[in-house]
Amino acid sequence: MCYAIPGKVVKIEGHKAIVDYFGEKKTALAEHGISVGQYVYAQGGVVVSVVPETEAKKILAFWEKKFFELKKKDDELSSEKKPLGSLAPIIDKIEKGRPIGKDEMKKILQAKGADAEALRSYANIMRKNELKNSCCVHGILEFSNHCGMNCLYCGIRATRNMQRYRMTEKEIVAAAARAVKLGFKAIVLQSGEDRFYDRDALVRIVQKIRKMGVLIFLSIGEKDLRTYEALYSAGARAALVRFETSNERLYARMRPGKKLEDRIKLIQNLQRIGYLVSTGFLIGLPGERDEDLVNNILLTKQLGTDMYSFGPYIEKERKADLEKALNTIALVRLIDKNAKILVTTALETLSPEAKKLGLLAGGNSLMIDITPEKYAKLYTLYKGKYKETGNEVKETISLLQSLGRAPTDLGR
Ligand code: 5AD
Ligand code: SF4
Repeated sequence: MCYAIPGKVVKIEGHKAIVDYFGEKKTALAEHGISVGQYVYAQGGVVVSVVPETEAKKILAFWEKKFFELKKKDDELSSEKKPLGSLAPIIDKIEKGRPIGKDEMKKILQAKGADAEALRSYANIMRKNELKNSCCVHGILEFSNHCGMNCLYCGIRATRNMQRYRMTEKEIVAAAARAVKLGFKAIVLQSGEDRFYDRDALVRIVQKIRKMGVLIFLSIGEKDLRTYEALYSAGARAALVRFETSNERLYARMRPGKKLEDRIKLIQNLQRIGYLVSTGFLIGLPGERDEDLVNNILLTKQLGTDMYSFGPYIEKERKADLEKALNTIALVRLIDKNAKILVTTALETLSPEAKKLGLLAGGNSLMIDITPEKYAKLYTLYKGKYKETGNEVKETISLLQSLGRAPTDLGR
């Protein structure tokens, strides 16, 4: 079983449903005649399916005691305010609701040792106060490692001489079905920029997976808007498109032939279509300064998308800075209290503890790779991406439970 429980619709306001989880209320986008009194699954703030009352009540009876135990656990783990040292004046400003400047943000990113630890536990308390202990888990299905682009940082860029694969439509749908059977309620369909799958093929795939009652997240790169519109009509409701870096020059260097401006336009168009959008950046691209990182965070916030997705740039020779990546999570939490912050798989490669540390630094969302093993091995975005655990779902659920995180939706 994965991490999602049904909630009861207690109110409808236009297109929004107020969903109750044991007394805790979350907002979710509700389409197709959802009505008060129904039980639903919601993911990322979108109602994805209706659950028959008897089934919902059975699941909730199983979870009720556990739900309050988890809350208690999260309270225990997320209450201790540690001395903030040199960061105290900055946090004080935030507490008083005053904006902090870029230099202060840089200082937060550069925090080390005890200061950094205190910073993260402060951000974690903020996460608990603002969004409670909800945590969502997305299954990511990497269906093709073909890519026509040549992003300098990427291990599957077009010029790389490597073994390529494309899953057939049947394989994609079957892999999604397996994940749904495990309990996943959100599936990310990811690939390189692969023209092989045309609009009709993608529409067919989305339609079939949508019938399984899950949130479909697209992570397929730059497609024309008509394709994205068609995929929305087919049932996809979320899109993951990082802008990678807010530094125009660095962007143009890292993504030859591409312009930051166009990427931003795509993100805004996806928002306009109605997609729940997740965006973000890489931390530590060659030549990037802390000022760029601050600008990356501010651009994500300014875009007003639904979820932050950022992670360390992983390079063969250079060890990425775990502390800085965790400080980034904490800083985002401090300046965007309600943010949904994904703890990304790239962060997880930096340390076996990273997933936990990310969740304790202000993060509240995770991804699990659901790609069939023979393909996952070939989806080498960066070194160390493929991990042979076989038990990731179980391990993640037990981690979430040990941290007191509940399978309730994060809401909108
Ligand atoms: N290290 C970390 N993340 C990477 N990505 C691509 N290459 C790397 C790398 N070397 C990320 C990009 C892209 C996502 C699919 O993978 O940010 O948006
Ligand atoms: Fe292709 Fe994405 Fe890698 Fe760029 S980051 S080369 S678009 S898979």
